[in-house]
Amino acid sequence: MTADLLITGISQLVTARGRGPKHGIAMRDLHITGDAIVAIQRSKILWTGDSKAWSGTASQTIDLGGRAVVPALIDPHTHAVWAGDRLADFDARTSGANYEDILRAGGGIRSTIAATVNASPESLIDQATPRIEAIVRSGAATIEVKSGYGFETAAELRMLEAVAELRQRTPARLLATLLIHIPPTQPEARSAYIVEVCESLIPEVARRQLASAVDIFVEQEAFHTHEAATILHCAQQHGLGIKLHSEQFQRIGGLELGIGMGALSVDHLEACAPAQLSLFVNRGTVATILPGVSLHLGIPAAPGRNLIDAGAAVAVGTDLNPGSSPLFSTAAALALAVRLNGLTAAEALIAGTVNAACALDLHDTGRLEPGLRADFLVLQSPDWRDLVYTLGANPVAEVWIAGNRVPNLTEPS
Ligand code: NIG
Ligand code: FE
Repeated sequence: MTADLLITGISQLVTARGRGPKHGIAMRDLHITGDAIVAIQRSKILWTGDSKAWSGTASQTIDLGGRAVVPALIDPHTHAVWAGDRLADFDARTSGANYEDILRAGGGIRSTIAATVNASPESLIDQATPRIEAIVRSGAATIEVKSGYGFETAAELRMLEAVAELRQRTPARLLATLLIHIPPTQPEARSAYIVEVCESLIPEVARRQLASAVDIFVEQEAFHTHEAATILHCAQQHGLGIKLHSEQFQRIGGLELGIGMGALSVDHLEACAPAQLSLFVNRGTVATILPGVSLHLGIPAAPGRNLIDAGAAVAVGTDLNPGSSPLFSTAAALALAVRLNGLTAAEALIAGTVNAACALDLHDTGRLEPGLRADFLVLQSPDWRDLVYTLGANPVAEVWIAGNRVPNLTEPS
């Protein structure tokens, strides 16, 4: 066997194994190899294992001197493109107002839509670039980015075009999702908006391959379940994956709809009830939890522990956005999932790697196995558990994406 590059001096090589999401107790099943080697051929993993078992040759060798290696993280839920800020909301909330009341009064998400619609495409891209860089520095090689602050068809398309443009500025793989975020304020305009989404926006997004999935916010203050069903059916007819923001504040049927329709993931779940936990069992739909939202809004944490105990496949994301989760670190999202949602370190790593990849319908990353993309992290520490232990410093020393080390990671832009 001849490799382009051999990574040696790995104190622990840590990964889940085998295709598909890990459910329930399988979320503890990490494979750990001491004194390990990763052999890379072009952009892919050629071989991994105990250094004593390697019998091949390599053009180049890099010795890590005893640090842990884990799969690169996948952030399956961000809203990294926006303009304006939500500092006034933050002040209002910390003085007693709540997120839903601000939204009902026409602020919150609607104020970010106003700012985003008025921003030029260049400024949207310029503002999003350092956010993506921060997420990459924190360990994510694959990042989902949603639209949803455009509202009107043309502005939603501009947001997705901005994501396409951002791909030129980052070594990370960016997956775009069309988010149908919030309905018109006038009740009589809702059905016309849904017709516009189904007859213009989704067909155009599918035709131009601007997104791989459609997401919808199902909530009392957003879309109702029957409206979501219409939009998600349309997305499926156009060959797009589907995802939902659901059970964030209320239970109005979004979770049941999403699982019934075979959604890639149902995200949020802070208000998920005990009777709903088993709905995820033996289903392909991933339960994506977003601890940054619980921390920032002070709402209950999604029942991560109970979801896993019931047999769900759980993923974790930052939900990076200006209103509910200004969290710029995917590693920190995992660290918070341990503290707030009751995950173990092993479960958090699986939630942030293989399960997060499955929430995006990706099967070529999130594990360290021959034939998969060479997307991995070199940690600062010889012990992989420092990834989810560390708070407030970056536990990630190096991020490798498709066989290349991302340069200048320690320098914020
Ligand atoms: O994932 N809940 C809906 N959407 C976003 C928040 C967007 C915002 O507040 O700007 C979320 O929490
Ligand atoms: Fe979100």
